[in-house]
Amino acid sequence: MNDLRQHSPAAARNRDAILAVLRRVLPASGLVLEVASGTGEHAAHFAAALPELTFQPSDPDPARRASIDAWCAGLPNVLPAIELDTTARKLCGIHFGAIFCANMLHIAPWAAAEGLFSGAENLLSGGVPLILYGPYRVKNAEFAPGNVAFDADLRARNPEWGIRDLESVTNLAKRSGFGAPEIVAMPANNLMLIFRRQG
Ligand SMILES: C[S@@+](CC[C@H](N)C(=O)[O-])C[C@H]1O[C@@H](n2cnc3c(N)ncnc32)[C@H](O)[C@@H]1O
Repeated sequence: MNDLRQHSPAAARNRDAILAVLRRVLPASGLVLEVASGTGEHAAHFAAALPELTFQPSDPDPARRASIDAWCAGLPNVLPAIELDTTARKLCGIHFGAIFCANMLHIAPWAAAEGLFSGAENLLSGGVPLILYGPYRVKNAEFAPGNVAFDADLRARNPEWGIRDLESVTNLAKRSGFGAPEIVAMPANNLMLIFRRQG
């Protein structure tokens, strides 16, 4: 049978470091929305490690959704991947225990970040985490050479892409009612940002 599973070497490398943070910040049980699930390797790994949680993966790309479902087949706590493009679709009426999104903001137009935060505003009540993972440009801090090259490559591929300023992301989050994020330094010059709505 045709194997629909796609492979991301980066996801295989970073999944345990991300999981260590998720173990601390995710609720003990409930429904977690993953935005931009990509291959589905993260969802499969996190769901296997955190069986009390149910994961709702998503991606706008149908081939990605097929890969997610293939990776997560047999895991009772992963729902079928849904189509979700943060620039286009608003999810309403569902309350999640957390939202997780890795490596999307720099590889999508800024409108995707705007849609993510405005969508999360509707989906998360006060104190519930919106967790982002990826590279960011931090004011007054060295921009690691690897990230300089990655940023140039992204912008060459699509002028609307590029590593985002942490300050711009934080300001955007603020407009949707989120406080300043908890920032966790991750391997390979990445960050995890844990936003919570105030009030
Ligand atoms: C670099 S991959 C990251 C996948 C996975 N989260 C990971 O870290 O391995 C970026 C993903 O973002 C998705 N994506 C791009 N634009 C998006 C948008 N506007 N809304 C939701 N997902 C989007 C792409 O389809 C792709 O699967």
